[in-house]
Amino acid sequence: MVLKKKIVVVGTGYVGLVTGVSLSEIGHTVICLDIDQTKVKKMKNGISPIYEPGIEELMKRNIEKGTLDFTTSYKQAFENVEVIYIAVGTPEREDGTADLKYIKQVALDIAYNIKNEVVIVIKSTVPIGTNEFLEKYISSLTKVKFHIVSNPEFLREGSALHDTFHGDRIIIGAENKYAASIVEKINQPFGIEIFTTNLRSAEMIKYASNAFLATKISFINEIADLCERLEANIEEVATGMGFDKRIGKSFLNAGIGYGGSCFPKDTKALVNIAGQEKFDFNLLRAVIEVNKKQQVLLVTKAKEYYGSLKGKRIALLGLAFKPNTDDMREAASIITSEKLILSGAEVVCYDPIAMDNAKKVLPEVVEFANSAEEALQNADAAFIMTEWEEIKNIPISKYSEKLRDKVLFDGRNCYDLNSFLVEDIDYFSVGRPSVLSKKQLV
Ligand code: UGA
Repeated sequence: MVLKKKIVVVGTGYVGLVTGVSLSEIGHTVICLDIDQTKVKKMKNGISPIYEPGIEELMKRNIEKGTLDFTTSYKQAFENVEVIYIAVGTPEREDGTADLKYIKQVALDIAYNIKNEVVIVIKSTVPIGTNEFLEKYISSLTKVKFHIVSNPEFLREGSALHDTFHGDRIIIGAENKYAASIVEKINQPFGIEIFTTNLRSAEMIKYASNAFLATKISFINEIADLCERLEANIEEVATGMGFDKRIGKSFLNAGIGYGGSCFPKDTKALVNIAGQEKFDFNLLRAVIEVNKKQQVLLVTKAKEYYGSLKGKRIALLGLAFKPNTDDMREAASIITSEKLILSGAEVVCYDPIAMDNAKKVLPEVVEFANSAEEALQNADAAFIMTEWEEIKNIPISKYSEKLRDKVLFDGRNCYDLNSFLVEDIDYFSVGRPSVLSKKQLV
């Protein structure tokens, strides 16, 4: 017997919207609350404010069933509410610490608006100890009974729905057994293993997981650099390592580093959290440094190739921090285009989905093309920044036909090296031998 609850999810970013939609899909009645009226109006019509494959279909289905609704009104949302999920952002402050202003505002709004006993579930990534702080903070503002549960999120943008329904684990952190059991029952229909901890451990599991994955990426990128110097091939090395179950096959793709709204922010936040405890998290600081170097790797390679980039016209293919998302946060394309322009190059770019967001964050002088082919037309060289399917499917002959200098720098190892042996083009990727048009692997 599934326990059906009336749930309110506060915040409709990636985490909030996906959580709300998924909870309604498994049978709960969900209201998603957001302060942005235009966004709420769109969502009520089944239009998603984020690009996430499959989400609109689920939104429409559950709106029609009457189990999913959207509102800007706390009063309306909190009527007879049993469980409130907080999924607002915890952005990075200038000093790298997490900014809790949105979460504190929501806590205040909850305290002033709840009328009956509720379970408050924290989905947002928050520094260790924040859940305890929220407990005290809300208690100081209301006499209504409530319980705090930490339920960190492990979904990836672009495959968020798949991750929600097929995740590896659900973490539930609570000091109160009754509250933990409610959240456990809410999640049971997902059929995913549930691991229960105390509040602080749950908060730490989230940071430690993201920091570990970021470490894997920086580690493989350092090995990739060594592979280039020692004439090994990172793809073979990563595959060979991945056979060992203790290492695992995933997150060993070398490339131009990690971006997005999570790894960069959470690694820096954890270094800061450690610092506050007078602990120097050396390893994680190195992971962050390696990633900075990695994000501009293609500029470094192009400079080595050309000597100077002055006057060169470079086509950037893919702008989002990874495929299947329109998210530009901390994308390598931002720092890469800035560096190219500072080096005197012209930049023309293309992304299948992220162009509108890219226009807001890339330097003004960057030109935007309507297709990959248009970007390549009259460019001297191309950089592959994001491994979109559309970009991986560009025939190699297109590059040699369109690019003036016939040189491709691939930051995501999209192509098989051997396919370049028959083409008149120089090809540089990450951690693998370069293919020069003289047809040698060097
Ligand atoms: C990440 C985690 O994977 C999720 O588990 C977590 O819930 C989420 O952060 C979060 O904290 O909200 P996400 O940032 O959406 O998810 O994207 P990932 O698929 O993890 O990729 C992050 C970055 O790492 C991308 O720039 C990607 O290109 C890069 N990456 C990933 C590599 O360079 N190599 C790899 O092998 C894997």
